[in-house]
Amino acid sequence: MKLIHVVGARPNFMKAAPVWSAIAKITDFNQILVHTGQHYDKLMSDIFFKELQMPIPDYNFNIGSDTHARQIAAIMIKFEELVVELNPDMVLVYGDVNSTVAAAMVCSKLLIPFAHVEAGLRSFDRKMPEEINRLITDQLADLLFTPSQDGNDNLLKEGILKSKIHLVGNVMIDTLAKLSAKANKPKRFKDLKQYVLVTLHRPSNVDDFESLKSILQYLITISNSIPIIFPVHPRTKKIIAANILDITNNVNFHLIEPLGYLEFLGLMKTATAVITDSGGIQEETTYLGVPCLTVRENTERPITISLGTNQLIGKDYYKIPDFINSVMNIKKPSNILIPLWDGKASNRIAEILLNKI
Ligand code: UD1
Repeated sequence: MKLIHVVGARPNFMKAAPVWSAIAKITDFNQILVHTGQHYDKLMSDIFFKELQMPIPDYNFNIGSDTHARQIAAIMIKFEELVVELNPDMVLVYGDVNSTVAAAMVCSKLLIPFAHVEAGLRSFDRKMPEEINRLITDQLADLLFTPSQDGNDNLLKEGILKSKIHLVGNVMIDTLAKLSAKANKPKRFKDLKQYVLVTLHRPSNVDDFESLKSILQYLITISNSIPIIFPVHPRTKKIIAANILDITNNVNFHLIEPLGYLEFLGLMKTATAVITDSGGIQEETTYLGVPCLTVRENTERPITISLGTNQLIGKDYYKIPDFINSVMNIKKPSNILIPLWDGKASNRIAEILLNKI
């Protein structure tokens, strides 16, 4: 059996790693790893392969950044050639990035069965490029692996056959559970007891400089009472660089390079709170019991609000200081158990694949 895994951007790597190793443990499938190269910086890509113990990709398309249409088209052209050459029995795609939808469309045109890992998530916000990617990928997928029941409900409402949908749990939590003991915060922050960890990269927050500036100003205010650690995504870095904003002279405000998986997880584990617009971090903070403030109008991961530690503030950035004040003196809640977020989601995927193909 020949299986191709397609990854392209940072949030794919921690999802594909446990699935790859679970399949390797119970089958002798020939697994092939394709990296589209959507993310290409050392700190956005290479470091993850090492830390997550992933094999070096068998193929790297080195696509890089471009407009959405051009990026998706370039991946499709290269992936189509490869699929025709390799003729796999199954392709696995992950998450909701442009690489995911590009590979999905190639497979369905060529009648190659493909599975979507992290299917069924919906923000119901079609202004988000990821929502478009999720809708198309799920409509086309032959097998859909969902992380939580809301994913199944969404897919059924969209007319996806029940027999294709499998509730397996959260593969990203598999990686977190496996590597948590190895995760340590960067040395320079090791003595910090209280701090707020920040990530921001959504176009809706960072592409419009007025929004970004307003968030940063609230963060600077907070940094008078608690240190802020902000690993800056390249997209956000470009916007900050293009606009002159003096935030470097505050000793409590740490704007740093993107971190690898283990250092970031090390910081997240003991953070007083996390402020983010990422999807995956909402899930990781919930699992770790770390209060999370999501700077978005909506989330495709509602379980992190109903059962977890997550709160949405949309564009009400002025709520950031109150949130930090409210969590600064509370005892950290214990880890939260969400059904099937148990470190074994990838094993369930491997078993299903073994029986289906
Ligand atoms: C992509 C995903 C998003 C995911 C995010 C995680 C899509 C539509 N979006 O967004 O869902 O949450 O990755 O990081 O697929 N850049 C670099 N180096 C890199 C990668 C990007 O400098 O290694 C720069 C690019 O030049 C570009 C910007 O960052 O200007 C955005 O990169 P892109 O891959 O287009 O989208 P992300 O915002 O990273």
